[in-house]
Amino acid sequence: MAIIFHERSGIFHLTNDHVSYLIRIMENGQLENLYYGKKIRDREDFSHLHDETARPHLCVSLPDPSMLSMQYTRQEYPVYGTGDYRTPALTIRQENGSRISVFTYESHTIQRGKPALEGLPATYTESDDEAETLEIRLFDKVSSTALILSYTLFEDLPVIARHARICQEGDAPVLIERAMSCSVEFLGSDFEMVQLSGAWARERYVRVRPLEIGLQGVQGLAGTCGGAEENPFLALKRPHTTEHQGEVYGFSLVYSGNFLAQTEVSPFDMTRVLMGISPESFAWKLEKGETFTTPEAVMVWSDRGLNGMSQVYHRLYRRRLARGYWRDRERPILLNNWEGTYFDFNEEKLLQMARKAKEVGVELFVLDDGWFGERNDDFRGLGDWFCNTDKIPSGIGGLSRKINEIGLKFGLWVELEMINMDSDLYRAHPDFVLRTPDRYASHSRHQHVLDFTRQEVVDHIHDMIAKILRESEISYIKWDMNRYMTEPFSAHLGADRQGEVMHRYMLGVYSLYERLTSEFPQVLFESCASGGARFDPGMLYYAPQAWCSDDTDANERCKIQYGTSMVYPLSMIGSHVSAVPNHQLSRTTPLETRGAVAMFGTFGYELDLDTLSPGEMETVKNQIIRMKKLRRLIQTDSDFYRLLSPFEGNETGWICVSGDKSRAAALLCQRLNKVNASWLRFKLAGLEENTSYRVTFEVGGITRSFTAFGDELMYAGIPVEREDLLRQGGDFAALFYELEADQGVSMIRGF
Ligand code: GLA
Repeated sequence: MAIIFHERSGIFHLTNDHVSYLIRIMENGQLENLYYGKKIRDREDFSHLHDETARPHLCVSLPDPSMLSMQYTRQEYPVYGTGDYRTPALTIRQENGSRISVFTYESHTIQRGKPALEGLPATYTESDDEAETLEIRLFDKVSSTALILSYTLFEDLPVIARHARICQEGDAPVLIERAMSCSVEFLGSDFEMVQLSGAWARERYVRVRPLEIGLQGVQGLAGTCGGAEENPFLALKRPHTTEHQGEVYGFSLVYSGNFLAQTEVSPFDMTRVLMGISPESFAWKLEKGETFTTPEAVMVWSDRGLNGMSQVYHRLYRRRLARGYWRDRERPILLNNWEGTYFDFNEEKLLQMARKAKEVGVELFVLDDGWFGERNDDFRGLGDWFCNTDKIPSGIGGLSRKINEIGLKFGLWVELEMINMDSDLYRAHPDFVLRTPDRYASHSRHQHVLDFTRQEVVDHIHDMIAKILRESEISYIKWDMNRYMTEPFSAHLGADRQGEVMHRYMLGVYSLYERLTSEFPQVLFESCASGGARFDPGMLYYAPQAWCSDDTDANERCKIQYGTSMVYPLSMIGSHVSAVPNHQLSRTTPLETRGAVAMFGTFGYELDLDTLSPGEMETVKNQIIRMKKLRRLIQTDSDFYRLLSPFEGNETGWICVSGDKSRAAALLCQRLNKVNASWLRFKLAGLEENTSYRVTFEVGGITRSFTAFGDELMYAGIPVEREDLLRQGGDFAALFYELEADQGVSMIRGF
């Protein structure tokens, strides 16, 4: 791995065994984006890759005879107003109102390792040989503003992590109106854009559309990354690229606030990708001596298809974005009382649920919404983070100890960023609400958002929750966020700083997460936002797992988990078995299928076990035994391969293969049963061709097994008997395959 600077040609070459990324200092001092893609060998000069042609309407940036025009140049970090009419990466408004800036190269540093981004989540290294970082300093002489572009190239992975910093060095302040985390320009537009879009209960569906001239993209303006609707991710794939073959460029933003991910194709077939904080709701005043840091964008290149790109994100995010005690640990199997009781519970009911959970092998009991203040419905109580002792006479401390005595760990639900107007907190501090003066404050689920741009609000909430954590035996926190932001305005910021509210809010949330995770390092945090409405890399930095969706129907979950796996590792995907008929859809799916699908994630139950028959309780017990055996493989020690897409056919298929390829767990799930149907072969992936595997699966409660070599399993596939699917329930039936190598195969791999 190396970041090389060729002084004579003014070219930076970021290259490892996988990728090359070339930046050139142009004759006018600005930076050009010469190449990004598969590794090419290094040479002193790549200037011939620069394209310059005389064209009508050319606005030339240098004196004659140059033809250098910003409109036709693949710029590294384009700014507004000097001849490029495409969307810029940076716009700064100066005191005289001008938005024109020209940033030219001043200096650069190349260092081993990766510096942290202050106050922001970001990927990291554990030792300096894992990555190298280039920082290029540019300067705009008129506004006296410095721009630092940062690039970290990871050693073993086709990954470049980027961000920008803007520092005001002159006396007059500037207003940053737009500051992207990354900009990349490609020659050609032969791409399709992949995005993860949806809505509540159908989050992160995979959508693909061809690029066209003009703008296309996704944007989140809800204050919680893209909410359930959009995810801070896009990929550009070649039209022929499939899950397992072909070229793809992924862009993922490590941020949980408003974002923009945009492509722009010019009529000359240049494609610009921009990713960063959405400029729609953003403006940041920078005074002398101040620095603004953009969130980090993580770019992945792969020539092994979408699945190849996903595996890189999984590896990086699982080990170098997630942090702390739980990062590499098997996740506890939990029972959450929400769908079992909703608000209708008392202490005895909870203890009864916990005893039942213990019987089947559950390890963690989670008390969801409804334990605090006057919270007997969703009209009141948010903000009152003290126990409702009418419902739980022993208090949270007492209850947690009783649950521990049963032999389970105890977890608690909170929604720290929110307030109900019917709460003691609101009565004492009505000014804590984020709202615009003289305007109606829209509510959602009868709740409002706290002004986390204010330190004293964050401190107040911190002190309440830290007290409970200190006084109780709490091993897990589910941190929910159940509404989008509206009328954002902070009474504590001046008129010239209102554009900062949305980002400052996120910085407040991150600071509270940072404080709580460092004060209580062994508590497992699970993030949540009405299910999966804030499922992003930023959250993963603080909370190693996230509730994937409120939709727990196994058939719907196939799509949601398939789409989520495009970027996010299975160790992050909160997945539970719930009751039937399903509470979101009224659909009934077999318990075996619900278990099998939920096992490809963190796993748990979200129902009242008292409502299950003895036979179903046996099935649950066996599921938990299986998950305990397989969770290390699934959550921390495997590569994930998507095999059959629920967006394309009747079947969903995927497999987790251990790093040494000696073990695997695969799922085949069908939507509707087919009558008098054709034959079905389930082709696996990721196995060792020459290894013989014992394949074990269950049909109608009877265990079966056979052996076959990896090549046969991958290329000829497993013949699936339609009868077996019928025995597994017909509609929505699943088959769960476990594979063990007959003789171990060893392979060495990095993180
Ligand atoms: C959100 C969550 C659910 C549950 C409820 C409680 O909808 O996604 O899992 O915690 O809030 O109000």
